[in-house]
Amino acid sequence: MNYKLITGIVLCFALICSFGVYKVFANQNKEVNMNDKKVLVAYYSLSGNTKAVAEKIQRLTGGDIFEITPKTPYPKEYNVVVEQASKEKARDFFPELADNGNVKDYDIVFVGTPVWWYTMAGPVKTFLRENDFTGKIIVPFCTHGGGGESTTYIDMQKLAPHAKVLQGYTSYENSAKENDIKNWITGLKL
Ligand SMILES: Cc1cc2nc3c(=O)[nH]c(=O)nc-3n(C[C@H](O)[C@H](O)[C@H](O)COP(=O)(O)O)c2cc1C
Repeated sequence: MNYKLITGIVLCFALICSFGVYKVFANQNKEVNMNDKKVLVAYYSLSGNTKAVAEKIQRLTGGDIFEITPKTPYPKEYNVVVEQASKEKARDFFPELADNGNVKDYDIVFVGTPVWWYTMAGPVKTFLRENDFTGKIIVPFCTHGGGGESTTYIDMQKLAPHAKVLQGYTSYENSAKENDIKNWITGLKL
């Protein structure tokens, strides 16, 4: 057979193989098929537990990530923030955010929060109130210190009445396992 023809066939074969390998590597980081839906993972976290879950969700879905940041940061001292949050809850306070974010370009918004006094943290309340979730899917998640999600997800639906709020993922402190998160997202059939 013609030498050039054989070389051409070998080169084409190598090219096709390398494209296949590239696709495998390109998809390696995104482990859940989101059917081309645009995904945002928005979260607030004071001590890092909820942030760790948010980052796992982001890696699994390949979505964008947005850290909800209050204009005035909350104190890190546990007793101080517990007392402040208690007072804020009593007067249904919505803390101002450094940036309200924008959910306009997304189909699915994962919304994560620590449980504060049986519900979501103040900054997450503001994020939900300041964005238009009409026609969006909210997938909530939270971390807690032993009391479970309490009314967190119910309260999220109240603040975003025109969104469809799906089944949430609840984990204790920093105990969330990536495989459990993956099974939860897969089970939602997004
Ligand atoms: C102000 C405040 C209130 C809290 N209230 C609750 C609660 O009602 N129920 C609960 O189980 N844990 C409660 N916790 C514990 C946190 O939900 C838990 O430590 C969470 O994982 C912290 O998440 P983060 O590291 O993302 O900030 C509270 C913690 C703080 C700081």
